[in-house]
Amino acid sequence: MAVSPESLSGQDVGSFAYITIKDRIPQILTKVIDTLHRHKNEFFEKHGEEGTEAEKKAISLLSKLRNELQTDKPIVPLVEKFVDTDIWNQYLEDQQSLLHESDGELRWFHSPWLFVECYMYRRIHEALIQSSPIDYFDVFKESKEQNFFESQASVIALCTYLQELRRTSEELGEEPLKKEFLKFLQVSLWGNKCDLSLSGGESSSQKNNLMNLLEELKPFILVDDTERLWSLLNRLRKTRDKAPVRVDIVLDNSGFELITDFVLADFLLSFKLTSEIHFYGKTIPWFVSDTTLHDFNWLMEQMKRSNHKWMSKCGVNWEAYVKAGTWVYHDHMFWTLPHEYCAMAQVAPDLYAELQKADLILFKGDLNYRKLTGDRKWAFTTPFHQALNGFHPAPLCSIRTLKAEVQVGLQPGQGEELAASEPSWLTTGKYGIFQADGSF
Ligand code: F6P
Ligand code: MG
Repeated sequence: MAVSPESLSGQDVGSFAYITIKDRIPQILTKVIDTLHRHKNEFFEKHGEEGTEAEKKAISLLSKLRNELQTDKPIVPLVEKFVDTDIWNQYLEDQQSLLHESDGELRWFHSPWLFVECYMYRRIHEALIQSSPIDYFDVFKESKEQNFFESQASVIALCTYLQELRRTSEELGEEPLKKEFLKFLQVSLWGNKCDLSLSGGESSSQKNNLMNLLEELKPFILVDDTERLWSLLNRLRKTRDKAPVRVDIVLDNSGFELITDFVLADFLLSFKLTSEIHFYGKTIPWFVSDTTLHDFNWLMEQMKRSNHKWMSKCGVNWEAYVKAGTWVYHDHMFWTLPHEYCAMAQVAPDLYAELQKADLILFKGDLNYRKLTGDRKWAFTTPFHQALNGFHPAPLCSIRTLKAEVQVGLQPGQGEELAASEPSWLTTGKYGIFQADGSF
């Protein structure tokens, strides 16, 4: 649930946040516990008794976490030393001191949803790193992989489309280039519909050929700034020989969504709209389906090994881009902190400086949008620029399907009209936006 702009302390928790935390999050934790349990034999085979003990320890820590959550216990500091522990604990202290002013206590159901949700995933990670030697284990790996395997037909369709396009037309005239650019952007948008945290970890893979659905889905795009993206990249590509063009993609989910981002990135590079692409992923398993370096590499490897010629061609090309340094993957712990992005320049100045090098930054997905806008209860007509609250490293665009109750930059009456006809319009992933800010 979004908190009101003036109140960061988040006493203002509404019914949606309560339902989400109380029902969906324990479901995710139960699934995590079950996953560990199912890997019991694997841990024993790899590490002997130590593996079995570690599995038991992780399960007991996670059960304790589930109980804390379900009984609305106070939020406690992180205990295990990790690269971000001090920053996290400082953040908890700051939140706590905000509440002290009103005699409150930082609790699961009475804190801003964004913060609590991040905290829960960070605590899952803590339970694992406290349980060596199985501390490397990604509890969401299976579901991410399953999402990819179940999307094979769609993946093949996208790869075939891209490779046919490359084969038949080495260069495209301005109009066809724009048309294709817009298609690949939309593919990447709708790829964001398939997110596992929304479905409590149940598979939500894409079974259709997305390219054929784009026209049908267009009415569900509520904000469409793609013309601005096109005019920027079209202008820059004309001087690309003199000054390389760099597009940064802040990734969201692995599996099918990552494929849609890869085909977009490949299209941008193959048709010379950019010279390099920089990707940003998560350093630890996050929000069930978010991309880690392991997922990034795993997916490429799967593609390369595929029996389908266009799928494997994509995999081979993507790996070659990485080797050549035209695709660059970046890790940064900031992405798994609870901070909103307007705090980035202060909390992670190195990351902010890196993003400033981009000509355009694409922020994929719902969680990125919540962090861009601070997850506040903004009026629907609040300008995006204002909601960004000083976060302007480079021209940027959020590419997101709506899964959480925050949305800015709508036309007067647009949000109210949607709410009247469809009460859950903000949370089902049915609607999408391309929302840009900066000088284009
Ligand atoms: O709705 C559940 C939720 O976890 C939201 O908290 C979060 O914003 C979203 O799902 C994650 O979606 P995405 O993968 O698009 O960031
Ligand atoms: Mg995600």
